[in-house]
Amino acid sequence: MVSPSLLSADFSDLRSACEMINNSTAQWLHIDVMDGQFVPNISFGFPVMEAVSRYCHKPLDVHLMIVHPEKYVERFVDAGAYSVGFHLEAVEYPRPILDLIRNKGAKTCLTINPDIEVERLYPYLKDVDMVLLMSVFAGYGGQKFIEDTYEKLDKVKAEIVRQGLSTLIEIDGGVNLENAPKLYAHGADVLVAGSTVFKAKDPIETIRLLQKS
Ligand code: DX5
Ligand code: ZN
Repeated sequence: MVSPSLLSADFSDLRSACEMINNSTAQWLHIDVMDGQFVPNISFGFPVMEAVSRYCHKPLDVHLMIVHPEKYVERFVDAGAYSVGFHLEAVEYPRPILDLIRNKGAKTCLTINPDIEVERLYPYLKDVDMVLLMSVFAGYGGQKFIEDTYEKLDKVKAEIVRQGLSTLIEIDGGVNLENAPKLYAHGADVLVAGSTVFKAKDPIETIRLLQKS
């Protein structure tokens, strides 16, 4: 599956970005929320997300790069999120936050930055719909893919199989047409792609190529 990241879209014309996504074969639209605390950058929040959810007919896959996600996860579901993910390293007790998301009827996702050991996700694999492995440090679009992501992907995939689960694995950061086939081969289920899709001459065709990979 492919989840194009809205962060790389033209913010002066988000409606067209939504229409492109609707007309494409993209399964989801990835929504990056940054607070200037957990990451140095600030992106956008509820009003933008609500506007996007009015025009975009694909499920919104929300990636929170914020401190205190417990304060906001329910509002993101109200704003139209299909799934809500937050960073494991941003919180002390993830389970009650996962419960808040699940009880609102949304899918749950736990995320880690590249400097966090993947083993820290293992106790939660059975409790979440998806894990998101960052293949760049969260904060900005257009960064270079970190190559040791494949190794981490192998580890997490093996652990999911070992536990007999169907937890999805999403990869986010620096995904392009060259590394996509390898990421699928290593067990990735969902690829987030920001600049590769939105800076492409033909975003719809690029989404299709990322899926065919
Ligand atoms: C980075 C975000 C990513 C970003 C990906 O913090 O989580 O979703 O938009 O952008 P690209 O695909 O350009 O690396
Ligand atoms: Zn993201």
